[in-house]
Amino acid sequence: MRTTACVIACTVALFAAFGAFAHGDTVPQAVDTSSLPRLGDAWRAENPYRTNDAAVKVGSSAYNQNCARCHGLEAVSGGIAPDLRKLDNDCATAQANTRATCVKENDEYFLTTVRHGRSRNGAVYMPPFEGTFDQEAIWAIKAYLETRREKPF
Ligand code: HEC
Repeated sequence: MRTTACVIACTVALFAAFGAFAHGDTVPQAVDTSSLPRLGDAWRAENPYRTNDAAVKVGSSAYNQNCARCHGLEAVSGGIAPDLRKLDNDCATAQANTRATCVKENDEYFLTTVRHGRSRNGAVYMPPFEGTFDQEAIWAIKAYLETRREKPF
């Protein structure tokens, strides 16, 4: 009796889990940012947590729980979505005096993408994270990704 119940219930649960994965509508995981300096309500134009070890740690966990299923574990893409280790590659070859501007522009691009996600012609390629993540969580993920750069600088 018990076994029969499990066969049915477990099969349903298994299909639900696979279904959620296949359609990319897995529930985003909350990110605990209480160990990080508060950033206030206004969106920052640039990552305030660069090289902050606590932020890198929070960002690593947040990334691997929320982004890795598309962008790959530890930011190594399996090809479903862009490889985020390459995000700042164009800045690696920039002159020293323009590098800071280059990184700041990429920060803006990153923030916009993560807040709003990516949709085209009614298809969601990437879900929006605004409302689920505070900006502390988003910048912590960027700080983590900066430790994973393909061309470190
Ligand atoms: C459901 C899959 C999925 C999830 C989850 C996801 N992304 Fe994406 N992401 C994509 C896809 C697909 C693209 C490319 C979209 C396009 O073609 O416009 C993308 C694009 C991006 C880009 C732009 C990359 C570039 O080179 O232009 C950034 C930055 C990004 N994602 C960051 C994140 C972060 C950070 C998270 C986690 C908080 C995340 N994504 C979660 C699928 C996903």
